[in-house]
Amino acid sequence: MPVAVKGLEGIVAADTRMSFIDGEKGVLEYVGIEIDALARHSTFEETTFLLWNLRLPKRAELDAFSTDLRSRYELPPGMEQRITSLPTSAQPMHMLRTMISSLALHDSDPNRNDPASARVKALNILAQAPAIVAAFDRHRRGLPVVRPNKALSFAANFLYMLNGKEPTPTMARAFDACMILHADHGLNNSTFTARVIASTLSDVYSAITGAVGSLRGPLHGGANEDVMKMLNEIPTVSASEAFIKHKLDTKAKIAGFGHRVYKAYDPRATYLKTLAKQLSEDTGNRDLYEKSQAIEGVMLREKAAKGIYPNVDFYSATTYHCIGLQLDLFTPMFALSRIAGWAGHVIEQLSDNRLFRPDVDYVGPHGVAYVPLAER
Ligand SMILES: CC(C)(COP(=O)(O)OP(=O)(O)OC[C@H]1O[C@@H](n2cnc3c(N)ncnc32)[C@H](O)[C@@H]1OP(=O)(O)O)[C@@H](O)C(=O)NCCC(=O)NCCS
Repeated sequence: MPVAVKGLEGIVAADTRMSFIDGEKGVLEYVGIEIDALARHSTFEETTFLLWNLRLPKRAELDAFSTDLRSRYELPPGMEQRITSLPTSAQPMHMLRTMISSLALHDSDPNRNDPASARVKALNILAQAPAIVAAFDRHRRGLPVVRPNKALSFAANFLYMLNGKEPTPTMARAFDACMILHADHGLNNSTFTARVIASTLSDVYSAITGAVGSLRGPLHGGANEDVMKMLNEIPTVSASEAFIKHKLDTKAKIAGFGHRVYKAYDPRATYLKTLAKQLSEDTGNRDLYEKSQAIEGVMLREKAAKGIYPNVDFYSATTYHCIGLQLDLFTPMFALSRIAGWAGHVIEQLSDNRLFRPDVDYVGPHGVAYVPLAER
């Protein structure tokens, strides 16, 4: 009798050519290229091309891809009004999930799933998600919405729409690197969700909407916000060690540590740590970096033997804070980037589809008599 594998740990549920993880050695590659090299030398546009085409673009191909993406930055007519009619108290991840879903209402043929149509829908969602987040954030701050600027890269355009002024090259580059680092990561929960939805031959919008819902959870993308809350809760750098020890004594999990696949240092965290250090110095937030280092020190002492190391969310919290993002925009930032991965996986799933339909082990009773309502 087969038994359920809780959390599907170790179960291989699909093939992919997009990203490779060696959890023991702490390796992550996109289409065979180490993540560190991409974070240092690539751009988010180029990395998205890589994930969707399984090779790096030539100059003309990259230019054409970027131009196509930028030509889709504008929201469809009516979308801005919808966003600015939302309650300002709405949580950005709930807003993003709902608005990505509503993009399908502006598509005259939302269900088309052939490869060319799926790519166009993916490109539209990727191009417009930043405008959705920025428009909502400005609406809730009582500021006018800033229209996208096609002269700017994906990363720079988002920061421009959010702040109403172009970011410095350092900030744009840092944010672009964050986008690269979060773009794809094997069959993580939200990517699996997207592939499961796509496997019913539902539509790209539904798959990405479901994935946003999955990402929101604190065991997944929501952890970057919890890291920031924790850093805010710790009053001083010197209080960090006692704070973490107390949490561990009470068997609490520390946000930003541990991973189902990595049993070594998450290579994305390695890069983000360097970025967080530099940005925290540049922006007068050194205490955040120092608290993070102190926390990491305790965790490595207490938990490295169990394979618990910082994950992508740990140093991305300090990085996003230094870029000037509100705490509840951290998880939406993860989503903006991961749309590239989700969409790539949806396209991959559709190219060799079989409906996901696992079994469940029924562990309840049998042969129970139906008791009429009046006799219960
Ligand atoms: C990511 C995560 C959900 C992986 O979960 P998982 O593979 O199901 O692993 P488990 O939750 O079963 O943890 C295995 C063991 O490590 C411990 N552990 C895992 N993550 C831990 C953390 N962040 N802090 C302290 N202990 C942790 C668990 O308590 C458990 O210990 P036990 O065997 O003594 O019971 C988990 O590490 C976690 O909750 N981390 C914090 C949230 C987070 O940062 N998520 C973002 C992931 S990118």
